[in-house]
Amino acid sequence: MVFRRLAAAAALAFVSTVALVSAQDFPKGPVTMLVPFAAGGPTDVVARLVARVMEKELGQPVLVENATGAGGTLASGRLARATPDGQTILLHHMGITTSATLYRKLAYDPKTAFGFVGQVTTVPMLLVSRPNFEPADFKALLAYIKDNKDKVSLANAGPGAVSHICGMLFMQLTGVKLTTVPYKGTGPAMTDTIGGQVDLLCDQTTGATGPVKTHKVKAYATATAERIPVLPDVPTAAELGLKGFEVGVWHGMYVPAGTPAPVIDKLNAALKAALHDPETVRRFAELGTAPVSDAEATPEGLKAKYFAEIDRWAPIIKAAGEYAD
Ligand code: MLT
Repeated sequence: MVFRRLAAAAALAFVSTVALVSAQDFPKGPVTMLVPFAAGGPTDVVARLVARVMEKELGQPVLVENATGAGGTLASGRLARATPDGQTILLHHMGITTSATLYRKLAYDPKTAFGFVGQVTTVPMLLVSRPNFEPADFKALLAYIKDNKDKVSLANAGPGAVSHICGMLFMQLTGVKLTTVPYKGTGPAMTDTIGGQVDLLCDQTTGATGPVKTHKVKAYATATAERIPVLPDVPTAAELGLKGFEVGVWHGMYVPAGTPAPVIDKLNAALKAALHDPETVRRFAELGTAPVSDAEATPEGLKAKYFAEIDRWAPIIKAAGEYAD
């Protein structure tokens, strides 16, 4: 009995020492921040703004790596396989929870693969088109796509991307199936929309605000309940008669499951510093987004959101019957 107690105490002391050492040693070199979509796109923009402050806090470079492909699941798989020491982290949006159902086969188990650092932002979406697309307004657009559905193309960043979900919802609500064109992110999709290679794109304000304000693309309607303060002239789809066209994007920061709590705490403190940084707040506001609250920017806040969103999207995706391989 005494021996067992001593052994348990020794084991506890060992675990605490390992955790302490891990936290003291962390970061032991540059931290890799995986971003599942292309450089210059909305997720990349958020990641780089956050990384800029996190590296000052952590005292080591935070290197953003655009690990694109398979609607973001490639980057999630990379994280799941990484050593759980905090040196590799992932900044992903809500697609990490929709792909848990959307993909028939994943290289990781979405229920157990990740540890949680905290939520980052929430970002609104809107529907834009190439600048010279014929329909003058949203009402004309709805009529036009019904008459020309075989001709109209809709860009997205692949199954699992929020542009894919937003476009899918638009097609469901209008009852019109358009030709979808997948990209490695909405950064390149936006470039092609501006260039006139594709007609329509549903994007986040973090990618679309600049091109809308400089009239490089046409904005038809927002996928939000209220108008977006940074784009006050763009009406909501509901105002224009299309109810239910609402997609709210949120971002989170993840580590591999098994990452020691003290390492997660250090990452979380750096994340919070980034979210409180005046320059981050200013740039986020310019891009139509804002940092989440302190309560949401916690491991518990993200964990609760992550599992609730997997449960929320599962029946919707199953009902739509649209799966990816
Ligand atoms: C991106 O960063 O390219 C986007 O977040 C992709 C998307 O989900 O639509």
